[in-house]
Amino acid sequence: MSDDATSGARFQCLKAAAKRASANAWSPHSGFQVGAAVSTPGGEPVAACNVESDSYGLTQCAERNAIAAAIAAGTRPGEIDALLIYVPGETPLPPCGGCRQWMVELLSPGATITSCCDGDQALGWSRDDLLPGAFRIR
Ligand code: THU
Repeated sequence: MSDDATSGARFQCLKAAAKRASANAWSPHSGFQVGAAVSTPGGEPVAACNVESDSYGLTQCAERNAIAAAIAAGTRPGEIDALLIYVPGETPLPPCGGCRQWMVELLSPGATITSCCDGDQALGWSRDDLLPGAFRIR
């Protein structure tokens, strides 16, 4: 990843928001404390965490919760130009396939997706690299 992607003020702002949300994760089953934050041009970041269910398949990922919260707050699909994922520890977490589908459909075409942690390692994608051959009906 370029240094720019992980050192700018915008990255730090998204990381701080995702880290705060991660501390609120409800993950009694996996112990993964995932935070995600999305941004729009000129807007405040919107962050969320994963929420697990005793009925495991009902678990909700941090990324989809953050996208849904941004949309509920008035952001329109296609306006989100960055999504950042944070997990505590030294290894960044790649987004799952379901979240990749949401990102392909709901992030802006040029959006960047960054995954970071407490260490220096980070992962990065552009929206259209996330899910080759993604299902689309529009
Ligand atoms: N999780 C996310 O929040 N995002 C992903 O992209 C992958 C997985 C959560 C769901 C579950 O609470 C835990 O991580 C382990 O799968």
